[in-house]
Amino acid sequence: MIYPKTILLSPRQGITGEVVLPGSKSISNRVLLLAALAKGTTRIKRLLRSDDTEVMIRALKGLGMNIEENDPDQTLTVHGSAGVFANTGSQTNPVKLFVGNSGLTIRTLLPALVASMAKTGGCAEISGVARMHERPIKDLVEGLRAIGAKIEYLGKPGFPPLRIEGVPLLPKTEISVRGDTSSQYLTGLLQAAPIIAKHWGQAVKIEVEGELISQPYIEITCAVLQKLGVKVKRETSPKLAYQIEPTDISSPGELAVEGDASSASYFLAAGAIGHGPVRVVGVGQESIQGDIQFAHALEKMGACIEWGPDWIESSWDKPASAPHAMDGDMVHAMPHHLKGVDLDCNAIPDAAMTLAVCALFASNPTTLRNIGSWRVKETDRIAAVAAECGQLGARVETGDDWIRIHPPESLKPAAIQTYDDHRMAMSFSLAAFGNAAIRIDDPGCVAKTYPEYFEVLSSLCAQAVPVLAIDGPTASGKGTVASLVAAELGFGYLDSGALYRLTALAARQAAVSAEDEQALASIATEVDLEFLGQTILLDGVNVSAAIRQEEIGLAASRVAVHPAVRGALLLRQRDFARLPGLVADGRDMGTVVFPQARLKVFLTATPRARAERRYKQLIDNGFSANLDGLSADLEARDARDASRAVAPLKPASGAVVIDSTILSIDEVVQAVVNAWHQVSVKQTGQLT
Ligand code: DC
Repeated sequence: MIYPKTILLSPRQGITGEVVLPGSKSISNRVLLLAALAKGTTRIKRLLRSDDTEVMIRALKGLGMNIEENDPDQTLTVHGSAGVFANTGSQTNPVKLFVGNSGLTIRTLLPALVASMAKTGGCAEISGVARMHERPIKDLVEGLRAIGAKIEYLGKPGFPPLRIEGVPLLPKTEISVRGDTSSQYLTGLLQAAPIIAKHWGQAVKIEVEGELISQPYIEITCAVLQKLGVKVKRETSPKLAYQIEPTDISSPGELAVEGDASSASYFLAAGAIGHGPVRVVGVGQESIQGDIQFAHALEKMGACIEWGPDWIESSWDKPASAPHAMDGDMVHAMPHHLKGVDLDCNAIPDAAMTLAVCALFASNPTTLRNIGSWRVKETDRIAAVAAECGQLGARVETGDDWIRIHPPESLKPAAIQTYDDHRMAMSFSLAAFGNAAIRIDDPGCVAKTYPEYFEVLSSLCAQAVPVLAIDGPTASGKGTVASLVAAELGFGYLDSGALYRLTALAARQAAVSAEDEQALASIATEVDLEFLGQTILLDGVNVSAAIRQEEIGLAASRVAVHPAVRGALLLRQRDFARLPGLVADGRDMGTVVFPQARLKVFLTATPRARAERRYKQLIDNGFSANLDGLSADLEARDARDASRAVAPLKPASGAVVIDSTILSIDEVVQAVVNAWHQVSVKQTGQLT
């Protein structure tokens, strides 16, 4: 998914449906490194593919790992190194590893390198993006130096970038590390401990100094280690410590990654704010991730939560008198149906950001405590959340490690800054349920953990609205039929072909070639357009007639073959799904844009009949036309629309196919309206 520089989320009117979650980032990155350190080959199923896992994969490849990525079902195969990386560089030619902004990658890779290179020697340098060089790593470096590791700061002392020289470790039995800045230090040491224990020929004891934050992440580490044959013994007195015997990390052959519980939090919250129900699949009662506790926090705020072994569902059980977005009436009041809470969020630091946005929808203030680690994440999250909640109209108080949010009467429209922080983008997208338009800057930052987030969100929001999709080839009459059906049902109308035509026209005006995919995609996302009934404005100018020209139709068909253009127009099209309902016409309404449409119609007619209709339409509008030429153009356009690789023109599965060659417009409209009433009665028991 290619995102534009900003996206506008118009006020959402509800959300419902099911999300199959992307793989857990925490589990994916742990499994990748442990599979690389293991004996044997590991097939990892449902691995998250995102920026954070890509930097880990690239770093491991840089260390000489053999990783196969050609599996079509998102399975990745790691041929384990048995604790010895093949390529660890040399003093004069160190291996250079880039970790982007992934804290987990650098903090787990560092101890693994120290352990592996204790045997092989070598030299490695690890760097990241500018923010990574502001994120602390001193406690971990000091813990490793105390057992003999040679680690140098290449920039500011205490922070990456780092240079590591392979040297034998000192004969010790214990490693000590602080637990109160980041639990990732301890995770890194636990994962390297089986190899260190083998060097020492005896058990490694890791002692935790200070309070251990984000403890559930350590539970994930221990659970993943266990899957690779490593047992971790935990003791709590005289102080918290973990013990690992000299063990081979050994591949279980195949491992499946759970869905991401932090990513689940956005959809569970949306189910509670936007009424739902929303079901997330991939985490549930049997999950090893601490962030599933978020669901309990949401329940405290008044949401209805149901659990299954690998799913969680959230909704808001409306009181009988309250307005409900699904009733078909427009809801204008800002929903304030949640209850404010006062919570210690030490165990769920990531998902707690989602609670901060839920707090805007509560009737009283919310206090989130013990979140000091927010200060050293992708950005200073306490400052960032406070600033953006403030922009939305909330009064916010903060301390070193807490935040209190006083919900506003109503949300203000705002341009939300995301600070290159994926969780800022995802959590603040939920503000769009507050009846104010929200602009999200740099939405592409979600690629860190959930590249498809906005696409999935838009799909679930569209599912809360009854949609009738009408697809078909050019001049099949779908535009006329769709607008008449919309009028008869009292629904909105989307002429999706007009969006492609507008893109083609804007590209022509800007002298952008029909082959320049990226430039066309930028035009598609940024073009300023407005639909006012039959009138269509491009940059405020009425282009209703101009886009109807045959050459613009042909140009539209050319720009429509580019995946980036289609991706850019996808979110814009889904935004047309508004209550009480939408009739959408095009080529891929039932297959791609509204795959959950209540009714899908495929309208067609013989090529000759369509050429005659188009001829008449052009002549009536004062354009000159030639029937044979039109017929040839039309067949060429059908062939291109039907044969392109992305979203080709074809009837959606379950579509009602109507051949209109010998039918009048009225007959087709009646056939579609009747089909709509039939499925509505079947699905909802009501005529809508
Ligand atoms: O429906 P129309 O003739 O206005 O569409 C113009 C072109 O836009 C069409 O030839 C292909 C493209 N298009 C598309 O690819 N997908 C849609 N949903 C609508 C139109």
